[in-house]
Amino acid sequence: MKIRKYQEKDKKNLQYICIATAKPTNSEKQKELLTTLYNDYFTECESENVFVAANDDDDAIGYILCSTDFKKYRKTMKKDYMPKVWKLNKSKWLLTQLEFIIETHYAKRFPAFLHIDILDGYQRQGLGHKLMDALMSHLREKGVPSVMLGVSADNEKGINFYKKYGFYEVIRGMGICKMAYDVPQQQGEGTQSV
Ligand SMILES: CC(C)(COP(=O)(O)OP(=O)(O)OC[C@H]1O[C@@H](n2cnc3c(N)ncnc32)[C@H](O)[C@@H]1OP(=O)(O)O)[C@@H](O)C(=O)NCCC(=O)NCCS
Repeated sequence: MKIRKYQEKDKKNLQYICIATAKPTNSEKQKELLTTLYNDYFTECESENVFVAANDDDDAIGYILCSTDFKKYRKTMKKDYMPKVWKLNKSKWLLTQLEFIIETHYAKRFPAFLHIDILDGYQRQGLGHKLMDALMSHLREKGVPSVMLGVSADNEKGINFYKKYGFYEVIRGMGICKMAYDVPQQQGEGTQSV
C-alpha cells in the first residue's frame, strides 16, 4: 500500500470510491449526483491537490481531495457543476447553495477545503492518517494555513477520525458538522503518526 499523487488513470476509481463509501444506492442519478458534488471538480480542476492510497496493483482504493482556494472552488462549482446538480436533485442543489453561504463565511479563516474516502476493506489501517499527512505537508509547502470540511452529523466514524487527527468542530446544523484544522507550520507539529 502506498500514498502517491493523483494520476489521470485514477479518475474512474475515484468516482467508484466516492459512490461505494456513500449511503448505498442503485439509482444512476444519485451516483452521478455524488460524483458531481464530491469528486469531479477536484480531479478536473485541482488534481495537483489530490492524493490517493494505492494497492499493490497501483489501483486507487482511497483518496483525499482538496481545493486550496475555497473562493475559486465555489465559483467554478456554481458555474460548471451546480447546473448539473440542479437537473439531478433540486433539494440537494438548494442545500448545497446554503452550505456555500455558510462556508463562504468561514473561508477567510479556513481557505482550503477537503474530502476523504477509503474503501471499506481498507479502513482503520492507518491509511486515513497517512493521506491526511500527505495533504498537510503539501499544504504547508504551499503556505496554506488551514483547511475545512463538512461531515454528516451522524457520521460517528468520520467525526471520530477527524477529531483523532486534530480537527475541531466549527459549526453544526442542517444535519452537517463543519470541522477545521490548522496546518502545522513545522514538519510533524500537530500531526499524529500511525
Ligand atoms: C473516515 C475514514 C476516512 C478514516 O480513515 P481510516 O483509514 O479508516 O482511519 P485511520 O485508520 O487512519 O484512523 C483510525 C481512527 O479513525 C476513527 N475510525 C475509523 N474507523 C472507525 C470505525 N469503524 N468506528 C469508529 N471510529 C473509526 C477512529 O478514531 C480510529 O482510531 P482508533 O482505531 O484508535 O479508534 C474512513 O474510515 C472512510 O473513508 N470512511 C467512509 C467514508 C467517510 O465517512 N468519509 C468521510 C466523509 S466526510
